[in-house]
Amino acid sequence: MEKNIILIGFMGAGKTAVGRAMAQKLGWGFVDTDQEIEKLTGLTVNEIFRRYGERRFRSEESLMAVKVCRRQRLVIATGGGMVLDPNNVKNLKSNGLLVWLKVSPEMVMKRVGRRTGERPLLRGRPTIDQVSELLGQREALYAAAADIVVENDNRSMDDLIKEILQKRRQLEIN
Ligand code: S3P
Repeated sequence: MEKNIILIGFMGAGKTAVGRAMAQKLGWGFVDTDQEIEKLTGLTVNEIFRRYGERRFRSEESLMAVKVCRRQRLVIATGGGMVLDPNNVKNLKSNGLLVWLKVSPEMVMKRVGRRTGERPLLRGRPTIDQVSELLGQREALYAAAADIVVENDNRSMDDLIKEILQKRRQLEIN
């Protein structure tokens, strides 16, 4: 049975856009864990953070990881903090191949710079140093969790998806 393809990486790595395009290419379903949490709770991620705090969001996120993993033939985009809990990584890996979309702090600034209000952890116009610091704290976790790593600074969508699928085939062969 083919495993789900699960995109991990920092805010602004392009997980949702790449996930959607890849699902279309494979003829698979697509889910974004943040969007699923929003549908389930009827609140935006921002509202969950504001009203109930980050812990509550993390607990919804962990439940969502278990739930989406039960399904098959899915491309799953995760929130940037999904890998903070090793249990989430374990659950996702039980039925998924983890693909880290790696980006530079400059690219994060470019992609989310104008829309920081949507991301509770990047509120109030963060500086490049702040983004670098948070990204630095997270990188070891993404690296440890990933089965496949791809750079996503200035890549065309086609090229990126080709690389992911090629690396996936390579893993199947080995
Ligand atoms: C978070 C990333 C967000 C969202 C939440 C927390 C994080 O998702 O899950 O704001 O801790 O990095 P995106 O990576 O899709 O922005």
